[in-house]
Amino acid sequence: MSLLSILDLRVVFSANGWKVHALDSVSFDLEEGGRLALVGETGCGKSVIGLAIPGLLPTTARVSGRILWKGRDLLQLQQKDLVRCRGRSIGLMPQNSAQSLNPLVRIGRQIEEVFRVHFPWLHGKGKGMVHGLLDRWGFDDPPLASRRYSHQLSGGMRQRVLLAICEAMEPELVIADEPTKGLDPLLRADAVENMEAMVVRPGRAMLLITHDLPVAGMLADQIAVMYAGQIVEQGRAADVLGKPVHPYTAGIAASLPEQGLHSIPGVAPSMITLPAGCRFRDRCSRSDEDCSYPPPLVSAGEDHLVRCFHPLG
Ligand SMILES: Nc1ncnc2c1ncn2[C@@H]1O[C@H](COP(=O)(O)OP(=O)(O)OP(=O)(O)O)[C@@H](O)[C@H]1O
Ligand SMILES: [Mg+2]
Repeated sequence: MSLLSILDLRVVFSANGWKVHALDSVSFDLEEGGRLALVGETGCGKSVIGLAIPGLLPTTARVSGRILWKGRDLLQLQQKDLVRCRGRSIGLMPQNSAQSLNPLVRIGRQIEEVFRVHFPWLHGKGKGMVHGLLDRWGFDDPPLASRRYSHQLSGGMRQRVLLAICEAMEPELVIADEPTKGLDPLLRADAVENMEAMVVRPGRAMLLITHDLPVAGMLADQIAVMYAGQIVEQGRAADVLGKPVHPYTAGIAASLPEQGLHSIPGVAPSMITLPAGCRFRDRCSRSDEDCSYPPPLVSAGEDHLVRCFHPLG
């Protein structure tokens, strides 16, 4: 049985009389030991997936489908059971580091609190463990860092504090939303290494959300490429990055600096007025009249799915 199984997840936000169709027909499985990266341009729905799993979407969101955690549907759980599931079972490192830390509580206390709630038997040892964690996440002077408030830290430092908090919870599933954003190359490499160590233990899994394709390639064994609220390609990381079959994936791979930054012309459609057919159609050089119908997600080889009538290769 999969650790996490997402089946036909749909999320619609109601905002100012408009309906924002943030996610449509999203399905994927994550096995024990699995590491799946969700990649795609801004606004395609990556964070909405990350927030939907632990039940942290705002009340303006209408969520349908199934989010099975070890076979139990999280969408059907009572709030108190869901809260119990967060932390030790599912740990989220949210995207917005500035808003995710408590501005009134020193950093060290915020990490210590995780130990107090999740590991009460470690009573009294919290401070030493906090300093050890801060050291591992690249803080030169952990006692000083633990006395700081979040506004006294840079964005990259806050990011690393959130990663340390996530590590302290020892969750079975780590959901890390843009964990390397704002980190310089050296710290980014350290963060990748620490994140690998976080999920290498038995029974662990990771859902990585990132704009950074090279980081996805380093950390994930599977990659799901999202476009306008849907998964458009999914498969083994090496296949998706090395031999992309969806024109959109090929486009984002070509827009990497080492490929000469050939960005895809045009913009993604509005999530309020989505086109009836293929959502990538207007930006795609391969589109024709077939693409006025919505393409289903179909097999493109072993362990490889694509949502396109005219895939590459
Ligand atoms: N609370 C909300 N109310 C209304 N719309 C929302 C809300 N949260 C997200 N959305 C919309 O849902 C869509 C998906 O947003 P999401 O934050 O998941 O994108 P993302 O892929 O994480 O982008 P980024 O790479 O910029 O973080 C966007 O169109 C966004 O505007
Ligand atoms: Mg996001």
